[in-house]
Amino acid sequence: MELRDAVQAEYKKSLNLARRHYDEGSMAKASVEYLKCAKFLEHLADMSPRDKRKELLDRSKKFREIAEGLKEGTVKVYTDGMIPPEEGVKKTPGGRIEKEKTGERVKGLILAEKPKIRFSDIAGLARVKENIKEAIVYPFKYPEEYEYFGVKPGGGILLYGPPGCGKTMLAAAAAAESDAAFVSLKGSDIKDKYVGESEKNIKEIFNVARSYEKAMLFFDEFDSLAGERSGSMEGHERSLVSELLSQMDGLEAKGTTKRYLVLAATNRPWAVDVALRRSGRFDTTVFLPHPDIEARKKILEINLKNKPVSRSVSLQRLAEITEGYASAEIADICEKAAMIPLGERIKEMTPRREITMEDFDQVLKGKKTVLASWYPKAVKELSGTGEGEMFRELIEAAREYKVG
Ligand SMILES: Nc1ncnc2c1ncn2[C@@H]1O[C@H](COP(=O)(O)OP(=O)(O)OP(=O)(O)O)[C@@H](O)[C@H]1O
Ligand SMILES: [Mg+2]
Repeated sequence: MELRDAVQAEYKKSLNLARRHYDEGSMAKASVEYLKCAKFLEHLADMSPRDKRKELLDRSKKFREIAEGLKEGTVKVYTDGMIPPEEGVKKTPGGRIEKEKTGERVKGLILAEKPKIRFSDIAGLARVKENIKEAIVYPFKYPEEYEYFGVKPGGGILLYGPPGCGKTMLAAAAAAESDAAFVSLKGSDIKDKYVGESEKNIKEIFNVARSYEKAMLFFDEFDSLAGERSGSMEGHERSLVSELLSQMDGLEAKGTTKRYLVLAATNRPWAVDVALRRSGRFDTTVFLPHPDIEARKKILEINLKNKPVSRSVSLQRLAEITEGYASAEIADICEKAAMIPLGERIKEMTPRREITMEDFDQVLKGKKTVLASWYPKAVKELSGTGEGEMFRELIEAAREYKVG
């Protein structure tokens, strides 16, 4: 290997380590690795032609700043190693370095790596997947077609439905299927106990997205972030929604090739501020129902693929008796069923054996489903808002659920 390649490899190694330490909250270790990154880059600059040198040295300087800032606790870094423009080491007028709250705020909010999950890993939901492709995947893939036909891509999609039925998973798959950057965050993470901080968080998230040519923003647990502005809401929550509104409206980048799409997921879509559900924002709502028999079969297949299952176990039958369970619960049933022979093997030293139907029966005997209480509660909450028509699919699914 050439020296250059070797240095390059070391640099990459340190960068990965730095990010990992950062993610794990070990700021001192992260600082050390970022400093190494800076040194490797300087080394590389030495070996590079003049026109490349400046860029490398600039980057190296950035890393030194990050390393320094992490030591002082004055800088925060996104997981991709970027310093947000207005951050960095802030100096007070007196030249003293101001101690700011560390990167805790955005830490973990932003996914550095794209999810690996694909649409094909998701059971059922065929229509939902197509909806998502139309709104989120195709506009990124075929921008010139959208332009030719004068169809405006963008806006947002609000995914809603019972817990554990694939909302978060679907958003991850949508990101993986498109070539856009994926900026994701959870409502409960972004809410800060300090007034005004959550708005800053939102601003930052949008800034990060805008630093890419194409990005998909995903807000999980959206209701906890974007509840109604009126009513019981506290003043600062109201301004949070206002911030979201203005950021979403400001996303559209006219006359550029930049493209941003927004996805949100919630169990309580009616609790999302109406203004956010108006046209141009989250004007498409998509319902993700609990799994039907075909979907259940596929979930079982996926989750039993790498497990030793007795030939006497019928997937069809398993799919039938898991009616009424959420997708996540079915995945869990598979795990628990495998735990029975595993436990015997480890604790009682019995010979290995396959998972049998009795194992599944035993797990199912004690297994409750959240859906049994979730549907009635959701219908009750929804009917109180007078928006039943808007979320009709949920009401229908609830009705069907009772029969099932
Ligand atoms: N359609 C599906 N196909 C296969 N597996 C699924 C599906 N839906 C859910 N799962 C399994 O359940 C897990 C949880 O699903 P997910 O996190 O997407 O649910 P959710 O709808 O976001 O729930 P919550 O409302 O609680 O956030 C997934 O990681 C996956 O293992
Ligand atoms: Mg979820």
